Amino acid sequence: MKKAIYAGSFDPVTLGHLDIIERAAKLVDVLVVAVLENPNKKTLFTVEERKIHLEMVTKHIENVQVDSFCGLLADFATKIGASVAVRGLRNAVDFAAEYQMYLINRKLGKEIETIFLAADEEHLALSSTNAKEVAVFGGNIDFMVPKEIQPFVVKKYQK
Ligand code: PNS
Repeated sequence: MKKAIYAGSFDPVTLGHLDIIERAAKLVDVLVVAVLENPNKKTLFTVEERKIHLEMVTKHIENVQVDSFCGLLADFATKIGASVAVRGLRNAVDFAAEYQMYLINRKLGKEIETIFLAADEEHLALSSTNAKEVAVFGGNIDFMVPKEIQPFVVKKYQK
């Protein structure tokens, strides 16, 4: 059985993330979407909230499981028996950072292969950071965040 991990902050999950999840899930038997629990990073949503959001937006994909981890991706992948790490790429800046991460992950867990999926052109400018930047000023995030998750984002910024 081919199990892959798609890890990230997902704060919040974007339409770009969802596209990568849908496409990656078609390539493997099980795709574990894993929220990084990083005590050093201030986030808009708690890990539990982000897991709930991911479960909501992936409920139509049978072979997706949602989980969270604290620590190294390579260690968590080994623990859950994932042999593939999935990453999305939007541009050359992403590539530079992702390639470094790939090299480090290879040193940390040799048996884990990374596959990069190119972002759809509709999602090239999307990021969780950009979505929060727009939402904080009351802008339209329809094209950034799955519709089920938009009310949670808007609520966080309501005074
Ligand atoms: O959504 P993000 O912030 O792009 O996700 C980055 C993530 C969570 C995949 C990455 O930061 C990560 O794997 N962190 C866990 C720590 C780790 O394994 N670091 C080694 C690579 S530098």
